[in-house]
Amino acid sequence: MKTLSLIQPDDWHVHVRNGDLLKTVLPYTARQFARAIIMPNLKPPVTTVAQALAYRAEILQAIPSDVNFTPLMTLYLTPQTTLSEVQQAAATESIHAFKLYPAGATTNSEAGVNDLRGIFPILAALEKYDMPLLIHGEVTDESCDIFDRERVFIDTQLTQIHHQFPALRIVLEHVTTTEAVQFVQAANTNVAATITPQHLLFNRNALLAGGLRPHFYCLPVLKREPHRQALLAAATSGNPKFFLGTDSAPHLSALKENACGCAGCFSAFAALEFYAAAFEDANALDKLEGFASFYGADFYRLPRNTQTITLVKSAWQIPPVYGTADIRITPLQAGEILQWQMQSPDAL
Ligand code: DOR
Ligand code: ZN
Repeated sequence: MKTLSLIQPDDWHVHVRNGDLLKTVLPYTARQFARAIIMPNLKPPVTTVAQALAYRAEILQAIPSDVNFTPLMTLYLTPQTTLSEVQQAAATESIHAFKLYPAGATTNSEAGVNDLRGIFPILAALEKYDMPLLIHGEVTDESCDIFDRERVFIDTQLTQIHHQFPALRIVLEHVTTTEAVQFVQAANTNVAATITPQHLLFNRNALLAGGLRPHFYCLPVLKREPHRQALLAAATSGNPKFFLGTDSAPHLSALKENACGCAGCFSAFAALEFYAAAFEDANALDKLEGFASFYGADFYRLPRNTQTITLVKSAWQIPPVYGTADIRITPLQAGEILQWQMQSPDAL
């Protein structure tokens, strides 16, 4: 049987939520990944070191006892974020980054930032303390077409931020366009990007053609095929600026199958299998380990993992639903066949 062994990957962008939903979804991420950057867009958002430490404790409680997993915490930037909070965060070992949501760009982003210039002193502090800034890169201008929002953000905001703070380490999260790939390639080595499995595997036809499929709805929204091709080329290029970040973002099925459906794809249950499918399609399985297991750790200046995992080529069908009777979560590509399957983490 065909197998693929890798140093155990990390997920550099994931939503694990809190409460019962956390208990339901966290084991999937913890089984595949050694570490994960945990998004802070809870309700209310995780804006202080104290909140991040409390959230971290809740996550630690939800990790199955037979797996090793380390949550890497982030803080949510608001117009009220203080310099002293940045300083404290930088001095706290378990906090690894700040997340910038333009206010209104996505799920629970209302407390985010409208006026980027207003937080320039905070960005200067992040640069000074060498604390990475993770960016949801979309403008929120209602008059801007939703398919253009990432490109316009790069042109009107990100270029300026990078120019003003060249030593600030920036991760442009979940890139979806050719323009984002080009921006990251052209920027200095302090700029990197995460890429999700859905943006590598699907274009906007998956969401819109032949019926509206809400489980393919995420933000930034899926784009045209040439953009997907550009992402796949970047992910499989071996360029260390591009690394794995699933953006697995579970919502209850009822909230996605809705007149105003929530944004987010639940992919954590088979994240590596999805990436393996995308890399195999591009004939680049040999590039998966760098993308999934090395480049993110290098960017965050954390040691690479040493434990290995194995993927086996063995077809299986994705179930229609994950979770419990009360917490029903429809997975990405429910009912479809995946060719790869991760075995338990290899024995030490
Ligand atoms: O699709 C998304 N879902 N994009 C985001 O930026 C947030 C996420 C969520 O938290 O549901
Ligand atoms: Zn996200």
